[in-house]
Amino acid sequence: MMEQRRSDGSLRHLITLEGLSRAEITALLEHSQRYVCAPGAMPPTNRALAGKTIGNLFTEPSTRTRVSFELAGRRLGAEVLNLEVQLSSRAKGESMLDTIHTLESLHFDAFVIRDSEPGVVAHVAAHVAPHVSVLSAGEAHLSHPTQGLLDALTVQQYKGPDFAKLCVAIVGDIRHSRVARSAYEVFSALGVGELRLIAPAGLMPAPGEFPAGRRHHSPEQGLRDADVIMMLRLQKERMAAAEIPDGAEYFARFGLTRPRLRLARPDAIVMHPQPMNRGIEIASDVADGPQSVIRDQVRNGVAVRMAVLEAVARARPGPR
Ligand code: CP
Repeated sequence: MMEQRRSDGSLRHLITLEGLSRAEITALLEHSQRYVCAPGAMPPTNRALAGKTIGNLFTEPSTRTRVSFELAGRRLGAEVLNLEVQLSSRAKGESMLDTIHTLESLHFDAFVIRDSEPGVVAHVAAHVAPHVSVLSAGEAHLSHPTQGLLDALTVQQYKGPDFAKLCVAIVGDIRHSRVARSAYEVFSALGVGELRLIAPAGLMPAPGEFPAGRRHHSPEQGLRDADVIMMLRLQKERMAAAEIPDGAEYFARFGLTRPRLRLARPDAIVMHPQPMNRGIEIASDVADGPQSVIRDQVRNGVAVRMAVLEAVARARPGPR
């Protein structure tokens, strides 16, 4: 694994949640909570990253992660640039490292990278100048660390800090999901009581992955008395055409409907990282229903990314 710490042990990059201690995650969640902002309220801002320049380099589509990293940087006083990769010289064959070194010459201090190829984010992190930080905004099917943190923050807001008493059910295309892998890492580190994996055989992760997860092949079995239900999108872009399930059939077997939601605890929360396919993995009346916390997840994304940007920059949280 790429070393993401400085020699003094502090976090310089965030490429994976693997190796972060419970205390570190708890501290990041506490820090994030300071930036959580109710809908309609004035978002907190400060100058903790004034004078810094952050580059967003996304080679895969994104709405939430890219916009929230941009807002997070701006609300901390940094300058944030989104590199339109398809309009950059990468489209003419320039390597990722040549692009990065060019941006370093232009005084960038941090790069936020989403890439479909495993290892690209760590490769960049291994080659940037010592003062530069690299943050993953999603790496292939492997890792989406800030999503894992915002998911944990959302659970904590609704269920409190004692993860040991919680049963979390992850449902859907777990095999291709970086969200599920980062959720597994963060919930394991926080000592979750029970973690269930609910998926058809073809969408279960390989044997040996998610070792603490209990595997179920039907929501009727796996959702019983769950406290947290995390729905996942079918990642069609990572499947061969022949592997893609029929949407109606999948919804009939695995879609989260109101009758299935009633199997969970009455106060269970429903999560989805989005983008979501309504009518395939989740019914609209559940996605928009009273147990859904999907919009909280999006709001928490900015707070978490502010905390992470400050942490890697070793900036002291600024006054609000
Ligand atoms: N959850 C998530 O990563 O969404 P985006 O792909 O829109 O960034």
